[in-house]
Amino acid sequence: MNTGYDLLHNARINRGTAFSDSERRALGLEGLLPPVPTTLEHQVARIHAQLAVLDSDLLKYLLLSDLQSRNEILYYSVLMSDPAIFLPLVYTPTVGEACQKFDHIFHAARGIYLPISARGRLSEYLGNWPQKDVRFIVVTDGERILGLGDLGVGGMGIPIGKLALYTACAGVPPELCLPVTLDVGTNNLGLRDDPLYLGLRQERVRGAAYDAFIEEFVDAVEKRYPKSCIQWEDFANINAVPILVRYRDRICTYNDDIQGTASVVLAGIYAALRITGQKLADQRLLFLGAGSAATGIADLVSQAMALEGVPLKVARGKSALFDINGLLTTASELRDFQKPFAVNHAPVTDFVEAIAALRPTVIIGVSTVPKLFNQKVIEKMAEINERPIILPLSNPTSRSECTAEEAYTWSQGRAVFASGSPFPPVTVNGHRFVPGQGNNVYIFPAMGMAVYATEARRVTDEMFIVAAKSVAEQVHDDSLAVGLIYPSQGKIFSASLHVAAQVAEYVFDHGLARAPKPADIGRWIRDKAFTATYRPIG
Ligand code: NAI
Repeated sequence: MNTGYDLLHNARINRGTAFSDSERRALGLEGLLPPVPTTLEHQVARIHAQLAVLDSDLLKYLLLSDLQSRNEILYYSVLMSDPAIFLPLVYTPTVGEACQKFDHIFHAARGIYLPISARGRLSEYLGNWPQKDVRFIVVTDGERILGLGDLGVGGMGIPIGKLALYTACAGVPPELCLPVTLDVGTNNLGLRDDPLYLGLRQERVRGAAYDAFIEEFVDAVEKRYPKSCIQWEDFANINAVPILVRYRDRICTYNDDIQGTASVVLAGIYAALRITGQKLADQRLLFLGAGSAATGIADLVSQAMALEGVPLKVARGKSALFDINGLLTTASELRDFQKPFAVNHAPVTDFVEAIAALRPTVIIGVSTVPKLFNQKVIEKMAEINERPIILPLSNPTSRSECTAEEAYTWSQGRAVFASGSPFPPVTVNGHRFVPGQGNNVYIFPAMGMAVYATEARRVTDEMFIVAAKSVAEQVHDDSLAVGLIYPSQGKIFSASLHVAAQVAEYVFDHGLARAPKPADIGRWIRDKAFTATYRPIG
């Protein structure tokens, strides 16, 4: 056991000024700290005060990251003290800037870096991680970091930040989590020319050599950590989809960009239907943008409809995609993943005309282009539907297909609205509306907790449908009354444990668990969750 000075440098058990007099005496800490012991609450207040004087989010990120390396309990206690404030500081949007500046602000080791130059030795590298029981891995190859593109080895900020959210939002124990960055080179010439760049200065490896590297990584993880789940994060589409297809039926794994996104949008639709009073099976969806977000959402929504008894082919026919050249029809040139959603229709190149022709109940903006949900679009939706569901998801805010105010104003307050980036509350015709944000954070921490607790063998799409329903159930009626279709971020921890319990139940009932089923799943999940309180040292 660590004592004395070493103890103060072990973030997992250090409690800084909160060591009591008797602990200080027993552990050889007397004289190493200011003399008066404090409480955890006092320490949290001190961090709040330190953050308050910093005038940039990046500085706040750095302070929090430093805290994570000094006192883990205090770090999570701060994050959990006000998730709505702290999640954007340790994850999006601040983490994006931190990844861009990674090589310049690097100050402490965290996680495992696996460069492609270490081919054949990945298991050895993983063996250097001090924790032998790893249950949850978030891994990136840094190629498509948020909307920022190829950030090479700087992508490591993403697995680190995302895993912090698994713990802060759903209690996945931090000691069981491992952030990993695969360095296969970078095509970002700015980085390769930067003298401070910390990754391999070479073009990204593609093709068979890349696939073999991923395969070696998966094999090494399976052997070293047989109970772990691998979550792929921020891979470019060309790799994200094939990797998921290759491994989803072989190991416990998922891709949050694809499956978590689809699930959180489905959750929003389920909650919106509580406002409109309709059934999922009766919805018609029109997507603006036919990329990976659109097809991922359309696919999960179709599967959810199929679970309600609609034949899958019919369900798929209820989603249509409208891309830069117009409606995707059976006569269009299509990519494989778009084919299930091509409609048998004459060409339509105007989005308003597509709405008039297909009469969607829901429009979803995933085009990356701002302002395309213009007045005519919203008015057409409001003409066809009593309560049109309008979901402009493109991020960041500057790319949103419309603002909350526009959607409410142009629909005379009848739109049911949520967006990818946050919008402040708006008042239209004396009515106050609170726009929701379709943030994956409602899904992935809970999924991680369920997978960890049950020691799930696989992560299936049905588990994401269960999670979506569970999130939607937790939106209170008074939230729905102001148009809010997602739970409050302030209550994310209890909401996530509820979602985790429902997903865990599904895992047990479908023979996907390796852990024995407990009598009371909700209580069992709560007992397994990490809580940021000081525990006895021993
Ligand atoms: P993508 O690049 O795969 O797809 C974008 C699609 O939009 C492409 O097919 C492109 O041709 C099309 N497009 C471009 N201009 C258009 C136009 N003028 N009219 C119609 N279509 C047009 O991107 P991806 O991954 O599908 O993401 C799309 C957007 O959705 C991004 O802004 C992303 O931030 C956002 N998103 C939001 C999420 C959330 O809020 N939870 C989750 C995932 C994505």
